[in-house]
Amino acid sequence: MSAPPKGKLSLPELAEMKRRGDKIVMVTAYDAPGARFAEDAGIDVVLVGDTAAMVVLGHEGTTVPVTMDEMLFLTRTVARAARRPLVVGDMPFGSYQVSDEDAVRNAIRFVKEAGADAVKLEGAGPSVSRVRAVVAAGIPVMGHVGLTPQSATMLGGFKTQGRTAAKALELVAGARELEAAGCFAIVLEAVPAPVAALVTERVSVPTIGIGAGPAADGQVLVYHDVLGLSEGHLPRFVKRYANLSREIRDALDAYAADVRSGAFPEEQHAYAMDDAELAELTAALDLDEPVRARKR
Ligand code: KIV
Repeated sequence: MSAPPKGKLSLPELAEMKRRGDKIVMVTAYDAPGARFAEDAGIDVVLVGDTAAMVVLGHEGTTVPVTMDEMLFLTRTVARAARRPLVVGDMPFGSYQVSDEDAVRNAIRFVKEAGADAVKLEGAGPSVSRVRAVVAAGIPVMGHVGLTPQSATMLGGFKTQGRTAAKALELVAGARELEAAGCFAIVLEAVPAPVAALVTERVSVPTIGIGAGPAADGQVLVYHDVLGLSEGHLPRFVKRYANLSREIRDALDAYAADVRSGAFPEEQHAYAMDDAELAELTAALDLDEPVRARKR
């Protein structure tokens, strides 16, 4: 097996960050430019999330439709560009729910065909055995509890999880089972901040929060949400650090207006031609005037 690229964040380094109390920064990415920006910002972990279904592939309000082939394609583009960050491929709905064998086969595809360093899968319960099987195959697994969007319908929608003592206990138990099964980190999505703090204290592996308050060992947000590329309703846990949608709309409006008015392209955007060559061309085509002098 070839060694990981020099500088790649290792799992022991990630575990050490929890021990030291250094916050882990994770963001999603779905293409090479996104991965490069994340790398340049010193992001620790890049998740090729199945949120791609919504933010890249145009499905509305669900991560369920994204396929293995689509996830592999996106993960490949990210893995090519992200040298330092750990690249985690998100196993899509249907790729691990049926059996441990399916989970292992598809996790192997993420690593072998797409260049992922690790995979993520959702849930505890039946997913615990999947985690054990994938880890036994030598592939690091990130767990994900709380709001697990692939089973949002079962959970009654995109709702905060673990709000009662009984539900929070289930969540803590699930996280501990995932840790025991070998997860190297666990995402806590949309859970009350005190519950995330309890889980974070009770598992030895790093927790990565999204809508889970400040106590988690790290935070993850969706790339399009951070950059203000997502439109419509956003969950309360999102913080926007830019408004790129507005910038993009303004830029495209300006471009369209320039093309329509003839303001673009200008001379500096066009390629010139040697006068003698142009004269020869004009003569050969039997034209009265050179093409460049013509006006509509
Ligand atoms: O798919 C995704 O982007 C995720 C994160 C929100 C954790 O699972």
